[in-house]
Amino acid sequence: MKNTTRRLLAAALLAAAAHAQADDTFRPGALWPDDKGVHINAHGGGLLEHDGVYYWFGEHKVAGEAGNVAQVGVHVYSSRNLTDWHDDGIALAVTDDPASDIVRGAIIERPKVIRNPRTGKFVMWFHLELKGHRYDAARAGVAVADKVTGPYVYQGSFRPDAGAWPVDVTPADKDPATSTLARDHAGGQMARDMTLFVDDDGTAYDIYASEENHTMHVSRLTPDYLRSAGQYARMMPNGDDEAPAIFKHGGKYYLVTSGLTGWAPNAAKSYVADHILGPWKALGNPVRGTPEQQKITFGGQSTYALTLERNGCTRHILMFDVWRKMDAIDGRYVWLPVEWEGDKPVVRWRDRWTLADLDKLPCDGPKG
Ligand code: GAL
Repeated sequence: MKNTTRRLLAAALLAAAAHAQADDTFRPGALWPDDKGVHINAHGGGLLEHDGVYYWFGEHKVAGEAGNVAQVGVHVYSSRNLTDWHDDGIALAVTDDPASDIVRGAIIERPKVIRNPRTGKFVMWFHLELKGHRYDAARAGVAVADKVTGPYVYQGSFRPDAGAWPVDVTPADKDPATSTLARDHAGGQMARDMTLFVDDDGTAYDIYASEENHTMHVSRLTPDYLRSAGQYARMMPNGDDEAPAIFKHGGKYYLVTSGLTGWAPNAAKSYVADHILGPWKALGNPVRGTPEQQKITFGGQSTYALTLERNGCTRHILMFDVWRKMDAIDGRYVWLPVEWEGDKPVVRWRDRWTLADLDKLPCDGPKG
């Protein structure tokens, strides 16, 4: 093939890829081209709506297995319709300063951004692991920006809730001989897979896999959203949960998680609570479909739940990552609408769907 023909063909393919997405259609698991025709690079992501625009923040991965560590930073995209995404570039960049926590080669996972109405700042939290120390540090990293797309300025990292006991602590939890919680009491609790949640009253929470990933914590943030406030609860003690995605419906809190199998998919779990600090009650696997789909959650792992108010109805979209461990940049996104089975949120596979399909679902979730 001549070079010009090859170039024309490449341009036509790019245009076709971009066009494929420009029809308001979600295609779970497919390549998802941005406005430049490039597969969206925002893994372990989270969304923020600001002034009518959605912003998608996620891990920028590169090719190969080494692409799972941070080589670039946190990528941000924007959209008005949730299917067509504009590339807004790198919101938080790694540095080349070996003394920085976020030096290239550190691990920056599951970034989530919220806006603080009191300070007007955009606040990003993420799971941070220090370069060369695998997953041992288990820290929460925080970065702040004046503009939603950044640049975000790194504020530091820590283990949450140092010196504080959870609101639901038991005498056994305080025994350092047997309890990870007690072991980490002075230095702060381990914080790996995480998400953020802002409640209706503006109080924000960090939800993260703690205690060697065996017990998830929900931890209130300080009013500026920059630190943990020292008030927290153990959500599902020894539940072996990670990959939290949380949403509120009818006054109750719903949580979807995964089990602990690293990049390999496993069965999702779901929970409900009347109060965010618990107690949390198990609702079982939220995946509906074949036994295989239920066993591996369509090949995905939860990362975020987006809530939309549409035509007087509260809707939720659950977002999952299909990780590609050996070629991190090729990881896929599975977004599915939440349906209700009585008071249980469930998801079903769809090859393609639109927000119009979401609007056709019964508006009958549980009432508060
Ligand atoms: C998963 C976790 C991912 C990443 C991975 C590393 O369980 O959800 O965010 O940390 O392990 O193996």
